[in-house]
Amino acid sequence: MMEKNAIERKIRELLAKMTLEEKAGQLQQCGPSLVGAFEVSFEELLDMMFDGRISKEEFDRLMSGAKQDFHEDDIRAGRIGSFNGIGDAATANRLQKIAVEETRLGIPLIYGYDVIHGFRTVTPIPLAESCAWEPGLWERTGRLAAEEATAAGVHMTFAPMVDVAKDARWGRVSEGAGEDVLLNGDYGAAKVRGFQGDDLTREDAMAACVKHFAAYGACEAGRDYNRVDMSLQKLWDEYLPSYKACIEAGARAVMPAFNDINGVPCSANEWLLRDVLRKDWGFDGMTVSDANAIAECVNHGIAADKRDAARQCLRAGVDMDMTSNSYIEHVQELVESGELEESVLDEAVADILRVKFEMDLFEHPYRTSEEREADAMLTQEARALAREAAVKSMVLLKNEDAPSGLPEGNSGNKKILPLAPDARLGIFGRLAADRGQMTGAWAVGANPDDCLSILDACRERGISYRYLDGADNPEGLSTKKRILEIAEESDVFLAVIGEDKEESGEAASRASITLKDSDIQLVKDLLEVGKAQGKPVVAVLFNGRPLAMPWLAESADAILEAWHPGVEAGPAILDVLFGDANPSGKLTTTFPYASGQCPMYYAHMNTGRPGGKSKFTSKYLDTPLEPVYPFGFGLSYTTFAYENLSVEKTEDGFHVSVTVKNTGSRAGEEIVQCYVQDVAGSRVRPVKELKGYKKIPLAPGEERRVEFELPSEKLGFYSREGTYVVEPGEFRIYVGGNSRDVLEAGVIL
Ligand code: NOJ
Repeated sequence: MMEKNAIERKIRELLAKMTLEEKAGQLQQCGPSLVGAFEVSFEELLDMMFDGRISKEEFDRLMSGAKQDFHEDDIRAGRIGSFNGIGDAATANRLQKIAVEETRLGIPLIYGYDVIHGFRTVTPIPLAESCAWEPGLWERTGRLAAEEATAAGVHMTFAPMVDVAKDARWGRVSEGAGEDVLLNGDYGAAKVRGFQGDDLTREDAMAACVKHFAAYGACEAGRDYNRVDMSLQKLWDEYLPSYKACIEAGARAVMPAFNDINGVPCSANEWLLRDVLRKDWGFDGMTVSDANAIAECVNHGIAADKRDAARQCLRAGVDMDMTSNSYIEHVQELVESGELEESVLDEAVADILRVKFEMDLFEHPYRTSEEREADAMLTQEARALAREAAVKSMVLLKNEDAPSGLPEGNSGNKKILPLAPDARLGIFGRLAADRGQMTGAWAVGANPDDCLSILDACRERGISYRYLDGADNPEGLSTKKRILEIAEESDVFLAVIGEDKEESGEAASRASITLKDSDIQLVKDLLEVGKAQGKPVVAVLFNGRPLAMPWLAESADAILEAWHPGVEAGPAILDVLFGDANPSGKLTTTFPYASGQCPMYYAHMNTGRPGGKSKFTSKYLDTPLEPVYPFGFGLSYTTFAYENLSVEKTEDGFHVSVTVKNTGSRAGEEIVQCYVQDVAGSRVRPVKELKGYKKIPLAPGEERRVEFELPSEKLGFYSREGTYVVEPGEFRIYVGGNSRDVLEAGVIL
């Protein structure tokens, strides 16, 4: 990479040559507009489909006739600095040629794209992948995503999302690493390393744009885009560290969030974008607004109009305007009229040019070719990694003893799962066959035909199966009659149920996070027949968020949480069901009993009246206190025992060690978790906070001493005055295989 000083010199030289319009142009990011086949704008067309004025079929018909307008004249005039959403080499190179050869200064474009969990090779949704608790894996899938996306011309991904998400009603819980701040930070840092590699000038390096800064996951009532109002201490303790971890890992871009924090939208939040991000954390990359977010400051009620919004957001530190056109329409005039200092504009332009120089786009503006693109996608190795990631993401939630007569699987554990290699499956539910749903939310570069469903995998593997789509009823028989018919040829029933991909992700908040009535009915029917005939019912769940499903947890014989696993969904699920792989995933998000408990999370405060049996305690009358599945929970085909927890005081903190033993009869991996509680702080502290985790392989009968170092700097929090403090006194240390079932030791710091 060019030396830092040389880059700064080049930026200054370039700035000196730029007109105000060219400067504003560098701040402008747009997407291709769709034109031609319809009278109204694309956004209006989308609205028309969502509010039912036109059908999905009509929408698709109009879209297929539409043409993309790439605003080539604007590129030529130096009025565009970046595109969002161009993911093919031919278009990327064609437009880049205009920018480089036909503009006055030849400044290259930078291409951003939502590469959230894979580009063409879609890997599990981030929430799923976080359940692997494996930074090395997160980094490898990040690298894979970068190799494919950069081959398609992408320079920057709008990822990772490290919004700590404690409220399962929020649809975007699917896009991050769950409810814990440490895990989100580790996940994000690993992704940054994976996306960017160690040399930004390489053609396969993809700059990371960390989002959504900040605390978007705390939007009130889990409703997307909603306000966030919280103490600054809580913000610093529980939300900001995950973004900071990504900045420390070297992320070159940051996206301010849609929400406001304590009344100031993040896009207009100078404290957040200048004081915290740049001054405190030393960030010198570029910031990119969220889509249309600058103009939306008018809706927030903090700006009088788009012009005012442009002035406020640029001053607050938003460098690039994603698709709202506020800067390109108003910045020149704001500077000319003296309402905005040119130095503020120059700083924003400098941030963007800095990243372009760091990526060497001036010397190598064409970082890909159609040949490279053709070779890069969906290779065998990529599919193998997607399968590995999917297997490691799955969480076995329940696995009852096998009924007599069920052929035994390869674990010798006398449980329903794993299944015997020749077990015959009765498979039920639309999602077992629906390839397109396997990607989950945000898989923009995906092709649904690349995905393998459960049925595809059964065929590939030669599994004997019968299939019934719960809703499908070709012979006019009732579903139950058909279940009976299928039962004759099956040893076990698979109920494949859950959420479609559109039911999580952006703009997909749900007030009720329960299973669908039709899914519950299907499982009831299966259980009725299954009980009578000795066929266990295994629920395979596809979903992008935790579900409130106490009935299923109680009734199903086994439950495999598969999330939205990506292109290798089917094979990975069969790997787990048939025991080729031993499940090791652990939940990174709490599964509540009822939607009304949201937000429900393990690191809660105790209150003055911790929930209990007596009346005046902190609880609900109509749900248990405990979640259905706690944070950190997940079963294996083997069992693990924990003993001899020891905590020693070191010069600066604690040394924790525990013995973990594989007490079952097959090899497995255990995710050992270490939590801390500050017993009496000067501010109330969570009942437990995750401070360390280790994933360890153990052969049957093998035991290992697992160690954690807890330096005191990890044990502090933000004081009443708002400074980070580490307070001496009593701490409790908890170690176990989930956040509920732990060994405990007290120690004085
Ligand atoms: C809106 C989303 O909030 C953000 O996450 C995404 O990166 C942008 N749109 C760009 O598509």
